[in-house]
Amino acid sequence: MTQPRVEIGSQPEVRVRAPGKVNLGLRVGAREPDGYHPLVTVFQAVSVYEDVVATPGDGLTLSVSGPQAHLVPTDETNLALRAARALAEFAGIDDGVHLHIEKSVPVAGGMAGGSADAAAALLACDAFWGAGLSRDQLHELAAGLGSDVPFGLVGHTAIGSGRGDVLTPALSRGEYHWVFAVRDVGLSTARVYAEFDALAGAGSGAFGPDSDLELLQALRAGDATALGRALRNDLQPAALELAPELAETLAAADDVGALGVLVSGSGPTVAALARSRAHAQVIGAALTAAGVADTVLTAVGPVPGARVIASPSP
Ligand code: C5P
Repeated sequence: MTQPRVEIGSQPEVRVRAPGKVNLGLRVGAREPDGYHPLVTVFQAVSVYEDVVATPGDGLTLSVSGPQAHLVPTDETNLALRAARALAEFAGIDDGVHLHIEKSVPVAGGMAGGSADAAAALLACDAFWGAGLSRDQLHELAAGLGSDVPFGLVGHTAIGSGRGDVLTPALSRGEYHWVFAVRDVGLSTARVYAEFDALAGAGSGAFGPDSDLELLQALRAGDATALGRALRNDLQPAALELAPELAETLAAADDVGALGVLVSGSGPTVAALARSRAHAQVIGAALTAAGVADTVLTAVGPVPGARVIASPSP
């Protein structure tokens, strides 16, 4: 498990890359006494990445770069710093580390960018300090940091249950092409779940482990058209209630022939499934022209979870 540090000049550096995600299916049950909602979700990791670079430092410090870097807290509430602290405490490590996050996943966008940072930070600190934690130990620390952090570690395609942190790998064939319509103003996950509660009964009727059979069959067959039809997000009505303008984004993607379109996780990012890479470009251009997104990203999925990489992205 222990990864060698890469020597860059005279400084040791560990760079870890972790993916964002889209929930292909997200079924949400009624809030439980612990304040969380039970859910069944099918995650797909997509090629929009966060890089976390660990270098020597005094104490635990953080810097962030990328188009939305100014939106990311760099104090002790930051999930990557919390991940570093959790791992240091667990492994009894007193050394410091500086973490630098190169952000590409939208902030508060429903694509688990903060969770990807935490997953990447766990792996980076484990390698940087030579802590040698097992996969199970990393998973346990990840689940303690947030519901989506364990998926950031494993990536690919997985069914999440519990709070989304209990993962089972799912079979998936082929490559899927996505367009993400990103908004500058994010949505708080906690607020979206509260709105879900307010919209009494929304989505809870079909909650159950067998409810995504069609979706899982489409993935096994590599059938993008069937997958497009099966996409479903129980949080979408709540996200639309809080950000009604998303209806236009959904409609605009539908108008240019997206195989399926839905709000990603708790939103406000809208994910449109395209027929091909070229079709993704067409959808992206149409969304930009219609003025229904602040930024448009194209990506493919599924991709691996957090991994140590030797060199920066080209
Ligand atoms: O686990 P995480 O910190 O990502 O969750 C953020 C918030 O989203 C929680 O505090 C909770 O209000 C809500 N949530 C929920 N049910 C889930 C996951 C998250 O109600 N399964």
